[in-house]
Amino acid sequence: MITSSSPRTQRGMSTVESAIAVAVGAIGLVIGIVLIVQFSISSYGSRDASKESSMSHDAIMARLKPVGEIGMYDPNAPQPTAAKALVVAAAVPSANKGEATFKGICTGCHGAGVMGAPKFGDKAAWAPRIAKGLDVLYVSAIKGKNAMPAKGGNPALADDDIKAAVQYMVNAAK
Ligand code: HEC
Repeated sequence: MITSSSPRTQRGMSTVESAIAVAVGAIGLVIGIVLIVQFSISSYGSRDASKESSMSHDAIMARLKPVGEIGMYDPNAPQPTAAKALVVAAAVPSANKGEATFKGICTGCHGAGVMGAPKFGDKAAWAPRIAKGLDVLYVSAIKGKNAMPAKGGNPALADDDIKAAVQYMVNAAK
């Protein structure tokens, strides 16, 4: 009959033996994880980006391509239909310029009435301003007023476009 000073577990291992077994298992696990990490680092680290097909110059340029392209067209040259449409769009009568300018920039603040901007179509907000006369409003819009930036923040816009946008907003609030 085998006798032992330490108590036996059900499987017949002493507590010391099973503690060693657990420790060996844990060390094995850690070594396994380290090896997996090392393997993935080495296999990814040695990848050469320039050899990946998705990293080729053409593939990158295709990804960076803008959604739309703007070209200069000679209106008198024979045109493909798309170019014709572009010329037509550029030749919109000035009556629509106010709306276009408004939708391009002014609506950023006046659309929802942010930062105290009189809201588009809000008669109560516009009435006291309209009472000042269009010329005063033109000056405010072109030169700026308090939180209202000069030309809505786009100095490249023509004075006439700004005036048209003011008219557009004023008409909508009458
Ligand atoms: C960054 C926000 C912002 C943008 C963009 C903006 N506005 Fe304004 N606008 C304001 C604010 C704020 C006021 C109120 C200013 C005040 O009376 O203190 C205002 C007031 C005005 C007024 C009334 C001025 C007056 O004297 O009562 C006009 C007209 C006006 N804006 C036209 C325009 C036009 C036209 C555009 C586009 C070209 C434009 N705004 C874009 C913020 C903006």
